Amino acid sequence: MISRKYILILAGLIILFYTIAINNILNNDQISFIFKYKSNNILSQSSIILPPLYIITPTFRRPEQLAELTRLGYTLKHIKNLLWLVIEDSNEPSKLVIKTLDRIKVPYIYLQSPMPDIYKKKKGAKPRGVANRNRGLKWLRDNIKNNTENSQMMGVFYFADDDNTYDISLFEEIRYTKKVSFFPVGLVTKLGVSSPILKNGKFDGWYDGWIGKRKYAVDMAGFAVSVSFLFQRPTAKMPFTPGYEEDGFLKSLHPINSTDIEYLANKCTEILCWHTQTKKNNNPTKLILNKYKETNLVELTKMLINKTEN
Ligand code: UGA
Ligand code: MN
Repeated sequence: MISRKYILILAGLIILFYTIAINNILNNDQISFIFKYKSNNILSQSSIILPPLYIITPTFRRPEQLAELTRLGYTLKHIKNLLWLVIEDSNEPSKLVIKTLDRIKVPYIYLQSPMPDIYKKKKGAKPRGVANRNRGLKWLRDNIKNNTENSQMMGVFYFADDDNTYDISLFEEIRYTKKVSFFPVGLVTKLGVSSPILKNGKFDGWYDGWIGKRKYAVDMAGFAVSVSFLFQRPTAKMPFTPGYEEDGFLKSLHPINSTDIEYLANKCTEILCWHTQTKKNNNPTKLILNKYKETNLVELTKMLINKTEN
């Protein structure tokens, strides 16, 4: 028979063993890191203040709209210190767009700026997204405080159409644009890519399937500008000239000296954004309200297009 004395000694040893084990776990680097992190005792990455990024996105009502905004929104959600200016080509705010933006939870400003009627009624190519982008520029001018002492902290803006594809590393690169930066865009024209040409590290023209009469033969997704540089050009804006929107806007930033320009994406050897273009979907067949008016289909079809049929 084991005496009571041995049971007590055994129990004592077990307690000692567990105390040492728990102590070891708590002293383990990784676990104490979590504790320290939670109690904010160490500096984390997020405490370093980053120059803000302003992403100006034109959008308009069509069956793909909410899908495009969803995809872009969740890309932008990875980026710190970013404000998304979503500007719709419409007269009225869209509840569905607001609901989508609220769900994604990227800090955003939602505004409307319709394409003027004279362009809407015109036959042929239209100046898509121009009224929206100019509204975005006005928002920057009206809302960002000039900071001549630390102009970098005024941030950088970028025109990001709702239907393109963006690598998140692009945003960390453009964030530090001093004045104007250029970089390649994939899937543009039959050449497959639009980019500045760099020869021995020096600018040597534009590679783009359509140069036209452009001084800056770039795609809308191929450049970023610092807010302080924009503020030094108080009249800069985008013209309503199809095909010449980017060129006209960059020309309105005159003068841009060659020393004002940075070539990003590893000296323009990488593609970090793509002019994807979503396949156009037809407006879905109108919902027959007589048959479905008391069903979930009323809400669902509204998400694809605003019209229903009685
Ligand atoms: C290309 C360029 O990538 C655009 O930046 C440029 O504005 C356009 O050509 C042009 O030159 O018109 P693309 O893919 O052909 O773009 O045009 P969309 O993607 O249809 O439109 C560009 C942006 O404007 C999108 O964000 C879109 O949502 C918006 N948009 C389009 C409007 O706000 N209203 C419209 O009626 C059409
Ligand atoms: Mn597009």
